[in-house]
Amino acid sequence: MKKINVEKLEEYGFPRKVVDILLDRGIKELNPIQSLAIEKGLLENRNIVATAPTASGKTLIGELALIRHILRREIGVYLVPLRALASEKYEEFKIWEKLGLRIGISTGDYESPGEYLGRYDIIVATYERFDSLLRLNPSWIKRIGCVVVDELHLIGDPERGPVLEMILARLLEDDIQIVGLSATIGNPHELAEWLRAELVDLPWRPVGLIEGVYDRRTKTIVFYHNGVREGVRHRLGHPALSIALQSIERGMQVLVFVNNRRKTEEWALSLADHMKLLAHMIDRGRMGELIEMLKDSPSRNERETLSYLIRHGVAYHHAGLSSVARRVVEKGFRDRVIRAVFATPTLAAGVNLPARRVLVFTKRYDPRSRRMRGIPVFEYKQMAGRAGRPQYDPYGEAVIYDASSLNEGLKYVRGRLEPVISALGSDRSLRIHVLSLIATGRANTIDEIIKVFSKTLFHRQYGSIHGLKYRLEDIIRSLAEWDMVTWSRGRLQATSLGRTTTVTYLDPLSVKIFRENLPVNGLPGVLWILHIITMTPDYRRSRPYIPFKLIEKYEWEARSLAEDGVIPEPDRLEEYEYYYVWLQGYVHAKMLSDWINELKEDDISEEYGVGPGDIYSARDTASWISGSLSHIAKTLGLHRLSRELEKLSMRLEYGVREDALQLVELEGIGRVRARTLINNGIRTLKDLAKTPREKLLKLPGFGPRIVDSIYDQLRSRGII
Ligand SMILES: Nc1ncnc2c1ncn2[C@@H]1O[C@H](COP(=O)(O)OP(=O)(O)OP(=O)(O)O)[C@@H](O)[C@H]1O
Ligand SMILES: [Mg+2]
Repeated sequence: MKKINVEKLEEYGFPRKVVDILLDRGIKELNPIQSLAIEKGLLENRNIVATAPTASGKTLIGELALIRHILRREIGVYLVPLRALASEKYEEFKIWEKLGLRIGISTGDYESPGEYLGRYDIIVATYERFDSLLRLNPSWIKRIGCVVVDELHLIGDPERGPVLEMILARLLEDDIQIVGLSATIGNPHELAEWLRAELVDLPWRPVGLIEGVYDRRTKTIVFYHNGVREGVRHRLGHPALSIALQSIERGMQVLVFVNNRRKTEEWALSLADHMKLLAHMIDRGRMGELIEMLKDSPSRNERETLSYLIRHGVAYHHAGLSSVARRVVEKGFRDRVIRAVFATPTLAAGVNLPARRVLVFTKRYDPRSRRMRGIPVFEYKQMAGRAGRPQYDPYGEAVIYDASSLNEGLKYVRGRLEPVISALGSDRSLRIHVLSLIATGRANTIDEIIKVFSKTLFHRQYGSIHGLKYRLEDIIRSLAEWDMVTWSRGRLQATSLGRTTTVTYLDPLSVKIFRENLPVNGLPGVLWILHIITMTPDYRRSRPYIPFKLIEKYEWEARSLAEDGVIPEPDRLEEYEYYYVWLQGYVHAKMLSDWINELKEDDISEEYGVGPGDIYSARDTASWISGSLSHIAKTLGLHRLSRELEKLSMRLEYGVREDALQLVELEGIGRVRARTLINNGIRTLKDLAKTPREKLLKLPGFGPRIVDSIYDQLRSRGII
């Protein structure tokens, strides 16, 4: 297999400095897929679809393409599905600053026009943020030379896929190089053809992978590729735990994927009980460092549980963790202080957390059918692919721990990846993207919309223009009914409401729900507004999970508040699904209301059964929706409501009552410090400027560093 020496990159037109940076990173030669990508025209502006197993070095394929364009004074964009992944890539790409490149990141804040991003050479963004930028069309969009799409298989994801697909359809119209990267595409030829790309498809991995299945009957792990069998001694409640313990005893680090978030904590705790005998394996000094870092976590439960676990060399990892805790766990695992991590696959799949042995599930509870169902092969492969650390392990091992029989497990090991199927056909994505095409002026007739859709994978896979035309007509009729477009004599035009909706990035249905739930007269109260927000599809699709039992508990409270006119009425009582959306919305609204009334994160966590990370993500979503609805209200001429929504958006962001909004503007002052100041009679920035240094230093949480920074900020604002 051909491998290009990095020294040779100079011959491909890269300056010497690029070679030096790569050598610094320990990269001496390009690995087989990287080399093949170059052979297939990566550096000659060809579109590329590269599919190769996890950890095979696909990122560098993207980086090389981006750098080549930047050397010609163009802008390069790197797209990822998750914010957490965006910051990881951003940190990784900072190494190119040595070459004089400027690296930027953009993940939130959809309606901000992003003109400033034009000063960067590489922009790392989430799919959604980039899509919103394309709608806003800042001047630098024309300077983009190359877009790299990481995790390209997500085109098939019902949530994230349609946005990505529309981005790619748009890029295909322009002369922009597209580089798609993925580990798990069952139909790479089809995707490459669609993107007019060369396919770079190699099963090569830097470390070997051996996959095995735990056989319940014989209590052994059977490894498929080399026939090795390993007996498992049963000591803990679940085979996954016994296998984990046994692996640690044999000196391995283990990553255990778990299909349910609560179980990650439970299992970590049970394993910790059995780790006492292994205490000698853990580096005390480094452990102390991690526990020190954890003190910054906003949640008592997290601090206590995780530091207990880390003392035993164990941890858990899921989206409910605060970002501090997530960093601690990732670092602890990389430094080998933590021997076992129990993780849900969502985040761990993107984050680089390789382990010698990975334990994998293949079934997950399906709420629709109310039973356990097999996961797709590609999800299994994403998890299994985490096994093996390139510099340390001769090979990695992935073990399925929940198969009912050996054969059931082998179906995954030998399984073929599913083809990636477009998810653009859902009503939700059609209405969002159709409105956006009309509002941005890219299409003014049905035929023009069809022309754009003809560039999509959706069109390739479904083909029928007729069927599509009917669907589009339906969608347009709804948009017209909701006052977002006008449709006369075949010409489509967005109303100002339609344009604002597109720019704010809201689902048109959210705007409709907002309008129909406003009180007949007067201004709605804060709880009322929060309740509307939590009933929108934009909130619901990323809302944290609150257990059903807790939701039910609030039913009578919600109904009596509705009767008293404090929250909207559940007008379609007879439809259970609608009623439940309303009730669930109420409980989420109440949680957010606790947050902006400065209840402690711990108390909120406890009351609603959510983690600190959940509170933050609910806050982010709600704050964005509130800010967006503020623009909508303004467009509708509801100016007072618009100002209320704007204020609420800020309160949600910081988790404060109204009187603290001025103070939290300062960096370093969050909800807790702001309240301390107010309780001490310091209510405004001016009050703060008048407060003597010694007095500030006496307040809890105000050390010399923070106080200096406060004065600096006041000075730069001209208040001192
Ligand atoms: N040519 C190379 N030589 C040595 N190490 C390399 C080379 N290319 C990449 N690496 C290293 O391999 C590791 C994995 O690379 P990368 O994150 O790009 O994997 P990936 O293919 O994107 O995997 P995933 O599908 O999990 O996202 C990184 O630590 C990277 O620095
Ligand atoms: Mg990758």
